[in-house]
Amino acid sequence: MTHTSLFEPTALGPLTLPNRLVMAPMTRNRAAADGTPTDLMAEYYAQRATAGLIIAEAATPNAAGRTYPDTAALHTDAHAAGWRRVTDAVGAAGGRMFLQIQHGGRVGHPDNSGGRTPLAPSPVPLPETIHTPTGRQAPVVPREMTHDDIRATVADFATAARRAVDAGFAGVEVHSANGYLLHQFLAGNTNHRADAYGGGIAGRIRLTVEVAAAVAAAIGPERTGLRISPAVTANGIAEDDTDALYPALVDALAGSGLAYLHVVHADPDRPVFRAIRAGWRGTLIANPVLPLDRLPADGGRAAAERLLAAGADLIALGRPFLANPDLVERLRTGAPVNQVRDAYLMYVGGPTGYTDYPALPAPAGERLSYA
Ligand SMILES: Cc1cc2nc3c(=O)[nH]c(=O)nc-3n(C[C@H](O)[C@H](O)[C@H](O)COP(=O)(O)O)c2cc1C
Repeated sequence: MTHTSLFEPTALGPLTLPNRLVMAPMTRNRAAADGTPTDLMAEYYAQRATAGLIIAEAATPNAAGRTYPDTAALHTDAHAAGWRRVTDAVGAAGGRMFLQIQHGGRVGHPDNSGGRTPLAPSPVPLPETIHTPTGRQAPVVPREMTHDDIRATVADFATAARRAVDAGFAGVEVHSANGYLLHQFLAGNTNHRADAYGGGIAGRIRLTVEVAAAVAAAIGPERTGLRISPAVTANGIAEDDTDALYPALVDALAGSGLAYLHVVHADPDRPVFRAIRAGWRGTLIANPVLPLDRLPADGGRAAAERLLAAGADLIALGRPFLANPDLVERLRTGAPVNQVRDAYLMYVGGPTGYTDYPALPAPAGERLSYA
């Protein structure tokens, strides 16, 4: 069944969402140096509580998986307490939240992960420099994961998921997109393994399926989502079998009962998108392809509606939510949208370019709940 309105309530696992708009996960580097979420993050997410669902930024499930400085984590009690302040603030503002769990794999550096060498399917370095506290540095050759490393990583995803639910999240999203660890296992150019986790498609999808299953076993499949990015070349990824790889992954997930599958760079004209939609019987979140230099004047509404017409159930938007705390209201009413100011502010600390994007003025007699 295709949906026609972005602005109608819908069910997602145990939740009722007030609309079909999802805030895409966005790393904003506003956590403390040890990965603990800050009160500033609580304020930022609470401002955006009218999203049907917020998927909070990537949080690493262990120290080795850390990507960049000041990114969020969830593997200590301090991290959990910080996230609890975030979920409390969003809940008080009327919102609903999942948390994305991400292991960076080769997208990391010993200076960002307490001296640990990044882990990856194969010892193939990132083909670009990486941000560290002392500036951009050459990538290091990652260490090929042993079966013990793999088992421990799967367990860390499950433990982080349990911690997330205990900290007030409605569920978690497993990050198997954009060139991070699980995507490195999916893609042939980063996975040269000859064991059960490499080689043909059945081997390369194995870790993503195992992590999704372990997380689902820990917190319930109805609280577990999975993000994929077919053909996205971020972080040096080059897939050579996209059109076979993702339908095989979808087949392997059939019967898993996951809350949703989330597709980055979703283009209704691409065969892989249509194949995923045809094969996946559950909820599909689609993140449309918007221009990189400037947000469309309608904030992405037309692109979102095209994807609904192509069978998506929920639409994820990133930068439109980043720049517009009240995006849902602006899309609904056709009000103009704020553009992203100064892209460099995306990944630096502090409130500028973070919590200072203005909401529309409240109509006379009404007060904004997050004012
Ligand atoms: C500042 C920023 C941080 C991002 N961080 C993440 C992240 O932590 N996890 C993830 O899966 N995608 C991340 N992305 C990708 C977004 O979720 C989204 O897929 C992308 O921005 C395209 O959507 P948009 O055109 O609506 O912004 C990030 C994007 C931006 C702009």
